[in-house]
Amino acid sequence: VTESAPSADVTQVTVCAPVNIAVIKYWGKRSVSLNLPTNSSLSVTLHTDDLRSTTTAACSPLFASSGEGDILWLNGKKENVAKAKRFAAAVEEARKMRRERETADASLPKLSQQPIRIASVNNFPTAAGLASSASGYAALVFALKELYDLPVSATELSRAARLGSGSACRSVFGGFVAWRAGEKEDGLDSVAEQVADDGHWPDVEALILVASDAKKDVGSTEGMQGTVATSELFPARVANSVPKRMKQMEKAIASRDFDLFAETTMRDSNQFHATCLDTYPPVFYMNDASRAVVRLVHAYNDLFLAKEPSGADETDGPTYRGYRCAYTFDAGPNAVIYTLRSNLPQLAAIVQQLIPNAPETNKEEFWGPYLAELFNSGSLPDVSGVIEYMGLSPLPVGAIRRAIHTKVGPGPTVLAKGYVDGVSLLRTDGN
Ligand code: DP6
Repeated sequence: VTESAPSADVTQVTVCAPVNIAVIKYWGKRSVSLNLPTNSSLSVTLHTDDLRSTTTAACSPLFASSGEGDILWLNGKKENVAKAKRFAAAVEEARKMRRERETADASLPKLSQQPIRIASVNNFPTAAGLASSASGYAALVFALKELYDLPVSATELSRAARLGSGSACRSVFGGFVAWRAGEKEDGLDSVAEQVADDGHWPDVEALILVASDAKKDVGSTEGMQGTVATSELFPARVANSVPKRMKQMEKAIASRDFDLFAETTMRDSNQFHATCLDTYPPVFYMNDASRAVVRLVHAYNDLFLAKEPSGADETDGPTYRGYRCAYTFDAGPNAVIYTLRSNLPQLAAIVQQLIPNAPETNKEEFWGPYLAELFNSGSLPDVSGVIEYMGLSPLPVGAIRRAIHTKVGPGPTVLAKGYVDGVSLLRTDGN
């Protein structure tokens, strides 16, 4: 692989992009075809060290000989590009931009005329029910930009990622990211924007508890259309709650106010799921294990919370001070618990006591290397008193399948770039 081989046969790039988990949820579209949302949303980008989509994109005149056109592999499985409409549209848009550049500058290699090969893998099981579309589409548009050397800004990339999957527009940035709903019909103003980078509040960590029964009730596109069409709570969420909470969340992040962050996150997750329940017929994403995690988090926080001095009102800020952690749930039963680094040992100790390993997994597999090490080192605080006060019994064995510990992280990055002579070394493992 050499950078300086313009006559080489295969042009190739490998990138990775992060998962993001919203603390103010995107739920509802004003345009289905353009993935334009009814409301703004805000998310935390999780670290690609732990969760990522890795995408290799390559183009070559050699690929024309098979007559297959463009090819996409998702997690090693060849997909039908004609059916993958949003994927095909992203490739066409990037190719069009490349063609314009080639027309303007005849010295550029005619990459736009070559078939493309794209292989994308997630390092987390898709069956885990974690949003793979967000990191997947962010990786795709970033890979296309790098492959074709397109002079597009992060904002333009975010717009392109949005067309694949709404939440993907937020995975184009690291740190804390707002997706501004915008007002225009063409969606030009519906883009993500970084609120703070991953160095601003690096203490924010996440513990993801993967529920065993991760099957989705209905997909998010269908679910949100049902909510928009039938829920009477939903218009109030869009008109009042979300605008208020977007401001609170931005303030919480700017001032690193974990109390405001935690309470706003939990209230917004609960309200999103309330609008799902208010959808007719109702949609259920949380299950018994999810609800047990909600009770655990509240029981734990309650031990440390102090009511704010009078004058505090949940419409202006947090009702309580002293939050240890906060849960949030997407369109599925998995819990994402946000906490601060200093609190992780205590949280991990509690979770270890109250969430038993599924019997078929060993400790290392269940908890991942970081937490398993924490448990094995014997350095966890004694939480027996805390657990007694919480007054909760452990979740049923097997309710949670595994845990993933991660932290706030950066946006997409290039892992490898260059020209390969003769034969494509297209990687399909991506790790
Ligand atoms: C509950 O981005 O998956 O995770 O735009 O139809 O692809 P589409 O939906 P998607 O929806 C995500 C919804 C959510 C909340 C969020 O991530 O903000």
